[in-house]
Amino acid sequence: MHAPVRKLFLVVVGAVLGALIAVSPALAGNAGFAPVTPDSPNAHSITDAYWFITGFVLFVLVGVEGLLVTFILRYRRRNRARDAEGPQIHGSTRLETMWTLIPVVILVAVAAFVFVKLPGIKNVPSANAAAGRLEVTVSGQQFSWQFTYPNGAVAIDHLRVPFGEPVHLTVTAPDWDVIHSWWIPALGGKIDAIPGRLNHTWFTARKLGTFSGRCAELCGVQHAAMLMSVEVMPRDQFEQWEAQRAQQQTSGTARDTLGEEEWTGSCGKCHGLSGQGLVGPPIVASGILQDETQLTTLLRNGLTRGGKTMPPVGRDWTQAQLDALAGYLKERFGS
Ligand code: CUA
Repeated sequence: MHAPVRKLFLVVVGAVLGALIAVSPALAGNAGFAPVTPDSPNAHSITDAYWFITGFVLFVLVGVEGLLVTFILRYRRRNRARDAEGPQIHGSTRLETMWTLIPVVILVAVAAFVFVKLPGIKNVPSANAAAGRLEVTVSGQQFSWQFTYPNGAVAIDHLRVPFGEPVHLTVTAPDWDVIHSWWIPALGGKIDAIPGRLNHTWFTARKLGTFSGRCAELCGVQHAAMLMSVEVMPRDQFEQWEAQRAQQQTSGTARDTLGEEEWTGSCGKCHGLSGQGLVGPPIVASGILQDETQLTTLLRNGLTRGGKTMPPVGRDWTQAQLDALAGYLKERFGS
């Protein structure tokens, strides 16, 4: 290839590659360059830090690339001989001071900003007079999220919370399980769910509606199916739901609510939503589905067969949780 043709070729290839790289983030939400719109004070602080740091990143990028292009054009060879030497300079105190001081100032500014914001991200706000504080235990296990409320109500994968009230999450995982990571981007940062350890995070939802998230730690074959959502509802609606769920559990009538959530969240992700088999074997025709004693043994102990292992997903389930699933299975697959 002749030199001018090669130059043109390289420019075109570079432009096409650049355009392709720019298209994918531009098509993503928020133009792909920014975190999702925050709807909780801690998520707000994380977004603030993101933009603060991004400002410096852009400043450095434009500064360095601008100088680079300027120097390339301004000091290009022109008609000078190929082996002409430039003037030999040694040491420039002013320049050296500048390129030491500017990065130091930037790093100090970033560190100071983050340290100022950190307590507002990390510390769980205390309950105040206007609104209480909801305490929920979040347990991540292959491949569902279990929520336990103060009154004993249990929910799977779908967390309901009151509007505008601090929600304190104690995030953990059962001893026999692996590490997961709780993450609802609009409601704050990630927090790991580690077996045997209690981690803490919180949010105060400032908008009604449903926020979605996903497990953010590769945790096994169905990691990608480990989705969760947070539904923010008016205080009275939430209280009604919480009381009703607890009442259903104690009276053994939770099969269509908790029972169905358990089937979808704990069983269906591996055995298929109709029990037709997925990464786990088909179970739709299994007699165990109709026999609560056998079902309980399986859920409590798990099973290893043919090199595949089913984790003991129900080892720490309450009797009410077991009853709810058994009731649901009877109703759904009984005939
Ligand atoms: Cu749990 Cu990924």
